[in-house]
Amino acid sequence: MEFSDLYGRDLICTQDWEKHELDLVLDLAGRMKRERFSPQYTSLLQHKTFFMFFYNPSVRTRQSFEVAATELGGHAQFLEPKAMRLKTEKTAGETVEDAAQIMSRYAHGLGIRILEDKVGAYGQGENLLREYAKWASIPIISMAHDKFHPCQGLADAMGWAEWFNKGTKYPPDWRTLKGKKLLITWGHGALTRSWCSVQEAMLIGSRYSMDVTVASPEGYDLDPQVVKWTEQNCSKYDASFETINHPTKGYEGAHVVYSRHWMSPEAYQEGEFLKQQEIDKALKFPEWICDADKMALTDNGIFTHPMPIDRGHEVTDEVASGPRSCIYDVGENRLHVQKAIMALTMAGI
Ligand code: CP
Repeated sequence: MEFSDLYGRDLICTQDWEKHELDLVLDLAGRMKRERFSPQYTSLLQHKTFFMFFYNPSVRTRQSFEVAATELGGHAQFLEPKAMRLKTEKTAGETVEDAAQIMSRYAHGLGIRILEDKVGAYGQGENLLREYAKWASIPIISMAHDKFHPCQGLADAMGWAEWFNKGTKYPPDWRTLKGKKLLITWGHGALTRSWCSVQEAMLIGSRYSMDVTVASPEGYDLDPQVVKWTEQNCSKYDASFETINHPTKGYEGAHVVYSRHWMSPEAYQEGEFLKQQEIDKALKFPEWICDADKMALTDNGIFTHPMPIDRGHEVTDEVASGPRSCIYDVGENRLHVQKAIMALTMAGI
C-alpha cells in the first residue's frame, strides 16, 4: 500500500485540498465501500483514537465516525466541550493553544462540530477550527462548522457519481459528474440552518465540473467568498455558475436537485443569533419547496439532501421518499468517506 502525502493534514474545507487529493479520498472510499471488512483496512487505526468535540447535536456524523473508527480498528471518543471548560468566542475557559496541544499528545485526530447557534457571528466557528489547526500536531477534521461541511460534500459527490454510474458495486467514475446540472435551491422551513452543507456542495460540485445553479429568494445570499471560489472552480473546470431568485426556473434540465433551507445574512445582530426572526421570515416563502411538479421539469433528476430533512418544508414526502431520491446512499457514504479520510490523514496509507 502506498503512503500518501495526506498524512497529518487538516480537512476544514474541500477547497483547501487539491483536486487529485479529493479524487484519492473518493477512490479509497469507493474501494472501502465495496470491500468493507477487508483485512487490508480493519487494522489501519489500531491503537489510535479520534476525538470528537460536538458543540451541536448530530445523528449521522457522530455515529458514522464512531463506526468508521471501529471498522478501521481504532476508537472514536465523543466529547462534549461544555464538560471540558473550553474557551470559545462566547465562553471563557481553557485556551485552544493548551487544549489542542494536550489533545495531540493523546489522540491521532480531532474532529470538531460547531454550528450557527454556538457562535455570535458567521465565521467564528471556522476561526475556532483554524486556531485548533494552528496549535494541534494531529489532523483537525471539520465535522460541520458554520462555513463548511467537507465530509458531507465528499459523500454528496460520491453518491451522485454512483447514481450516474452503474451503482455501488462498481468503481464510480467521477468524470460522469461533468456537465451535470446541480441545482442548489433554498427551502422554506422552521429549522434555521447554517450555510455549511450548501456551500460545500457548491465547491465540490464545481470542482467536479458540474454546472451549478443556486436559487433563493432575495435576501438569502451565501458567502461572497464561496461564490467567488465556485465561479473560479467553474471557470477552471469548464462548467457554468449562476444565481437566480426564482423558485421554479432552476429545475429546468437539472440532474441533481439539492433543496435545503439556509439562514439569511441578517441572522446575526450584535453577537446574537436571531433564530425566531429567521424562522418567521423563512415561513413567508411556502412556494420554495421541492415537489413532484418541480422535479418533473428536471432531466430525470435525482433528489439529494444531507439530512436531517425538514419534510413538508424543504421537500415533500413524495420526492424525499421517491424512487429518484439518493438521500440514504449519500448518508451511507458519510461512513465510507470518513473511513477514507481517517485512513489517509491518521494512518497515512
Ligand atoms: N448531515 C449531517 O451532518 O447529519 P447530522 O447533523 O445528523 O450529523
